[in-house]
Amino acid sequence: MTKTAFSTRRTDPYGPPAAHRRLLAEEPIAQLEWTERGGDVWTVAKYEDVRAMLGNTSFSSDRSHPLHPGHMAYNPRSHPGRIIEMDPPAHAAQRGRVMGEFTVKKISAMRPRIEEIVNQSIDAMLASGNSGDFVELLALPVPSMVIADLLNVPESDYAFFQEKAGIFADGLENMEKRQQASSDIVDYIATLVDARIAAPGDDVLSRQLAAGAPREEAIGLGHLLLIAGHETTSNMISLAVMTLLDKPELRQQLAEQPELIPGAVEELLRYFTIAETGGLRLAVEDIELRGVTIPSGSVVAALTNTANRDPDVFPEPDRIDFTRGARNHVAFGFGPHQCLGQNVARLELVVVLEILFTRLPELALAVPVSELPLKEYSNFGIHTMPVAW
Ligand code: HEM
Repeated sequence: MTKTAFSTRRTDPYGPPAAHRRLLAEEPIAQLEWTERGGDVWTVAKYEDVRAMLGNTSFSSDRSHPLHPGHMAYNPRSHPGRIIEMDPPAHAAQRGRVMGEFTVKKISAMRPRIEEIVNQSIDAMLASGNSGDFVELLALPVPSMVIADLLNVPESDYAFFQEKAGIFADGLENMEKRQQASSDIVDYIATLVDARIAAPGDDVLSRQLAAGAPREEAIGLGHLLLIAGHETTSNMISLAVMTLLDKPELRQQLAEQPELIPGAVEELLRYFTIAETGGLRLAVEDIELRGVTIPSGSVVAALTNTANRDPDVFPEPDRIDFTRGARNHVAFGFGPHQCLGQNVARLELVVVLEILFTRLPELALAVPVSELPLKEYSNFGIHTMPVAW
């Protein structure tokens, strides 16, 4: 019997990849053929199983292992400090050192600055005319400026930082350009770390160094924060705004009840679950899930996007409901690797939704949603979103 092909491609921006939906209903643990990569992949589709899998470190994140599905993109140069690629005990030790930087309390203190960044992007939109690409004008610059702030990038370097981060985030279509941008970013972060070693400041990197992080680890961490926190948040900002522009009743609901915005952000995170390959692991021993034994050496994918549409956990999962209380979603993953920057992403999304429609009440899509070019690789999103205001 031919195996079903595994694919993370979406044809409908509002739904998970079509092949994944069938798995949720019919084959919660399956073995598929990963045509684009070669070889097989086990898929785990239901919410409860996805959490069990992501909570079990025998499903390894270690990308230095040649069998790990992320090994292709593994870069030994920026590996130290990239906690997303590590297993215990190194993972717990390094994550423990940086976790305190991302608490709700610490991140809430960034609110005035994030409001300023969003307002500045809207000022630039207004100054540029009355139409343009929302991704380029707001969705990309806001999260890159927030990370620049976290890393305390000097103002004179903003333009360089934004340009490189933007090229990197635009994706895999131009692999050579993207790799060059990634390497330029590592070089840049290395100069920042060296400057912090010479003169410590009040920022994440200086505090990591003071807490004993070696230079290479601080560089890897800085690089990871940009990679993990820029394109993801940018894609979610575009998709959230797209949804509100496309569905006026939802926009109206938030205009009338702005107190629903934090709940709306959780629901939109659940609904889009953009980190398509965030749950890829390598089984390093035989592991039983739902009565099925996944053999050691298997590539395994936790399908967080179907888990977040599991009707056993989210009734009427295909309906967008800002009042459902979706905070238990797994869009930020689950277990030891659960997103470190989730409070940053949430705050950025909340602030954008609070400010954008008040300052640009005429904001509208310039093309129908069906014409928006969809991203087809590791993080789901849209490349461009023409709007007018
Ligand atoms: C909407 C935006 C975001 C989404 C959907 C998202 C999603 C995720 C997911 C699914 C993981 C788990 C990966 C795994 O299990 O292997 C993760 C990990 C991570 N994220 Fe995010 N993320 C977002 C924003 C951010 C931001 C803004 C930052 C930092 C400023 C960030 C930093 C990280 C880091 C450092 C990890 C690795 C944690 C670890 O391995 O211990 N993310 N993210």
